[in-house]
Amino acid sequence: MKGIILAGGLGTRLYPLTHATNKHLLPVFDKPMIYYPIRTLVRAGIRDIMVVVSGPHSGDFIRVLKNGKEFGIKHLEYAYQDAPDGGIADALVKAESFADNQPVTVILGDNCTDANIGKEVRSFKGGALVFLKKVDDPNRFGIAEFDKKDSSKVIGIVEKPKKPKSNFAQTGVYIYDNKVFNYIKKIKPSARGQLEITDLNNIYINAKKFNWAELKGFWSDAGTFESLYKTSVYWARKILGKRNERNLTRFD
Ligand code: TTP
Repeated sequence: MKGIILAGGLGTRLYPLTHATNKHLLPVFDKPMIYYPIRTLVRAGIRDIMVVVSGPHSGDFIRVLKNGKEFGIKHLEYAYQDAPDGGIADALVKAESFADNQPVTVILGDNCTDANIGKEVRSFKGGALVFLKKVDDPNRFGIAEFDKKDSSKVIGIVEKPKKPKSNFAQTGVYIYDNKVFNYIKKIKPSARGQLEITDLNNIYINAKKFNWAELKGFWSDAGTFESLYKTSVYWARKILGKRNERNLTRFD
C-alpha cells in the first residue's frame, strides 16, 4: 500500500497566513500541520509516500520534510499540481505514476486525526473505502445517504446538503484500488471549476464498489481559522497531557 498526501490548494480561507507559507506548513500546536497526516499514514504501516503540492510556496515543503527519514518514511516523493485549485481529485491524479497500479491510501494535508487506520489499510480488498465521521453540522460537509432497507449501505454522497439525509460526513481519508485514476478521468469539473472527490466517491457507489468505515477518535480539518484553532487546542491538550502524565518538565 502506498500513501498519498494531498497538500495542494491555495488555502485562501487562511489569508493572510497563507501569503507567507503553504497552509500545510502552518503550526498545529507544536508541529507543522502536515506532520499529522504523515503520522496517520506511518502509524498505519505506510512507508512509501507521495506529497502533492502546489501554489507559490511549494518549495517550502522540502525544507521541512526533506527526504522523510525522520518520520520513518522509506521513500518520499513530491508531485506538483499545476492548477493549484483544480480540486482534490485533480491533485490525486498527479500521483498516478507513483501509485504504479497499487492501491493507495489518500489523506488530505489539512486533516489532523488521531484515528488508527492500520486495520482498514491491512484488510483492504479493493474498490473504495471511505472513512466517515458523525458531525454536528452536516450542512458543511459531503454527507452520506444510507439505503432505507439496509442502513449500513451508502447510496450516495451529497456535498453540503440543505436537508442532510444523515450526519455521517465524508472525511479526508480514503483508500482506493488502482481503478481510481481511470475513474477520475471520467469526472467533469463542478460549478466551482474543480474535480470533486465527492464525484469520484459517487462513481464507486454507482459501481457498487464502495465501502466505508467510521473514523474513530478525533478528526478535524484545519483549513479555517476556527478549525485551525480547535485542532491546535485538541492536540495541545493531548500532547501536554501526555507530558504531564509522564512528569516531563520540558517539551520533548
Ligand atoms: P480545501 O480546504 O477545500 O481547499 P484549499 O486548501 O485550497 O483552501 P481554501 O478553500 O481556503 O482556498 O482543500 C482541502 C485539502 O485538499 C487541502 O488541504 C489540500 C487538498 N487540495 C489539493 O491538494 N488540491 C486542490 O486543488 C484543492 C482544492 C485541495
